[in-house]
Amino acid sequence: MPYPQERPRRLRRSAAIRRMVRETELRVTDLICPFFVVGGRNIKTAVPAMPGICQLSVDNLLQEVKELQVLGLPAVLLFGLPGRKDALGSGAWDREGPVPQAVQALKDAYPELVVITDVCLCGYTENGHCGVTQKGQIQNDLTLELLAKIALCHAAAGADIIAPSDMMDGRVGALRAALDGEGYSEVAILSYAVKYASAFYGPFRQAADCAPSFGDRTTYQLDPANGREAMREVVLDLQEGADLLMVKPALPYLDIVRRVREASSCPLVAYNVSGEYAMLKAAAERGWLEERRAVLETLLCIKRAGADLIITYHALEAARWLWAEER
Ligand code: PBG
Repeated sequence: MPYPQERPRRLRRSAAIRRMVRETELRVTDLICPFFVVGGRNIKTAVPAMPGICQLSVDNLLQEVKELQVLGLPAVLLFGLPGRKDALGSGAWDREGPVPQAVQALKDAYPELVVITDVCLCGYTENGHCGVTQKGQIQNDLTLELLAKIALCHAAAGADIIAPSDMMDGRVGALRAALDGEGYSEVAILSYAVKYASAFYGPFRQAADCAPSFGDRTTYQLDPANGREAMREVVLDLQEGADLLMVKPALPYLDIVRRVREASSCPLVAYNVSGEYAMLKAAAERGWLEERRAVLETLLCIKRAGADLIITYHALEAARWLWAEER
């Protein structure tokens, strides 16, 4: 009979004991902060569905990243909004575009900062799809050639890690070959290996102005019903040379985070996406949730599920709270 000999509450009696037996720890070094970068100067445009998040011009981005640096946050993930869009998304590999400009400025100002760039076409194509469209179809292999141009543009600007989020087949291998061919063998690839066709990207599409104008992304992103298929994507991306793997979204997919963790020793990143952020913010604004506790618990639980790193729009606030806790 376990009870009364067994009493798990003995180890919950005091804060000091609870701390000693705590299994998972959330650290500021686990967090990656996303940013939306635009051209021009002194621009700071709020994103209505993501309270606290703004589209920033490079000068303002440098200011915001300064605080992150002080708090010890190691990495940023950059998304760009181009001045113009076209059928091929050519703004994505424009060296004068917001992302390469931001990469250069950040690396100059903060050499230690790890700069990760999103590689995708959806913010740059007229129809908002992640690949090139011909006859109403997303063209996989043609898209790979364009993604390679984007990756090289970001690498030339000084990006440490490129993160393809388009979900075309074969993109990790194509990008690895392109980078190596141009002398960028040290640039790492963070693969959105497991990216689901999710409703939780809604607010992001407002922030990055990339909602598809027809159809949806179900011909390239994974079906939320599928778990085994996630494992297939992981195997393929590792074979193609991914250095880090990502599962996205995070919260409704923590079972997938756990499965990928168990299947691979590769560093694992979970993306706590815009819709997950908006839900907590909305509830907190109404006083329905205690924001700080809810955010820190959410991030901790994503780690407990198996993620090494978390991309989150809560990064700056969470870093402030963690920083204060450590003192
Ligand atoms: C674009 C991209 C999306 C996100 C990251 N890269 C949106 C989409 O696929 O529609 C979503 C991120 C978020 O919701 O926070 N390829």
